[in-house]
Amino acid sequence: MKILITAGPTREPLDPVRFISNRSTGKMGFALAQAAAEAGHTVTLVAGPVTLPTPAGVRRIDVCTALEMLDAVTQALPACEAFISCAAVADWRPETCSSTKLKKSEMSGTLRLVRNPDILRTVRPLKGTRKFVGFAAETGEPTAEAARKLRDKGLDLIVANDVTAPGAGFATETNRVTLLTPDGSREALPLMDKLEVARRIIAWLEA
Ligand code: PMT
Repeated sequence: MKILITAGPTREPLDPVRFISNRSTGKMGFALAQAAAEAGHTVTLVAGPVTLPTPAGVRRIDVCTALEMLDAVTQALPACEAFISCAAVADWRPETCSSTKLKKSEMSGTLRLVRNPDILRTVRPLKGTRKFVGFAAETGEPTAEAARKLRDKGLDLIVANDVTAPGAGFATETNRVTLLTPDGSREALPLMDKLEVARRIIAWLEA
C-alpha cells in the first residue's frame, strides 16, 4: 500500500519568536511510519516540528502550521490508499501573525484566535475507497468520545488513547490504546512500545 501518515504537533506563530502548540513529540506517528516501511509499504510522512530522525525508506515532508499540514495532506492523499492522521493538529491559531517580534507595549493581554480547519473532515471528499485512520487523544476514559469522533469524521478506525494514563499519550516510549471500528467492535491493547502499537495498526490496515 501507499500510506500517508501525519505526525507531531503543529505550531501556530504569533510572531517570529512566539507560538501556540502542544506536547506531541511525533514518536507515535514516526513509529507508524517505521512500522509501515518495515512491512514493505510506501510511506509519505507529513511531520510537524519535531526533532526525530526520518525512518529508513520514508518520504518526509516537514510542515509547521495546520494550514501547511492540510496543504501537504491534500497534495499527497490522491496517490495513497490509506491515511493515518496521528498528528496533534492545533485547533486554533492566532488571528494575526506579526513579521517582527511584538513588543510587550503592543500586546493587550488578550489573544484573538481563529479556528483551524479540521484536516480529516476537509479531505473527506477525497476518501473514496481509501482507509482513513484517526487518533483520539482524551484525558480520562477515551472510548465514548473516540466513538463520537469515529462517526463524526467518517473514519474506518480510530485509535483511542488516554493521554493522562501512565506510560500513554504524549512524549512516552509506550502507549495504551483501544481500537474502535464503525461496526462497534473494540479492541483494548495492553501497554506496549509505540512501535508495537504501530505494527498492530498497520496489520489492521493490511487485513
Ligand atoms: O507524538 P507523541 O508525543 O508520540 O504523542 C502521540 C499522540 C498523543 C499525539 C497521539 O497518540 C495522538 O493521540 N494523536 C492525535 C492527537 C489529536 O489531535 O487528537 P484529537 O482527538 O484532538 O483529534 C482527533 C483526530 O482528528 C486526530 O486523528 C487528529 O489528527 C485529527 N485532527 C484534529 C484536529 C484538526 N484540526 N484536524 C485533524 O485532522
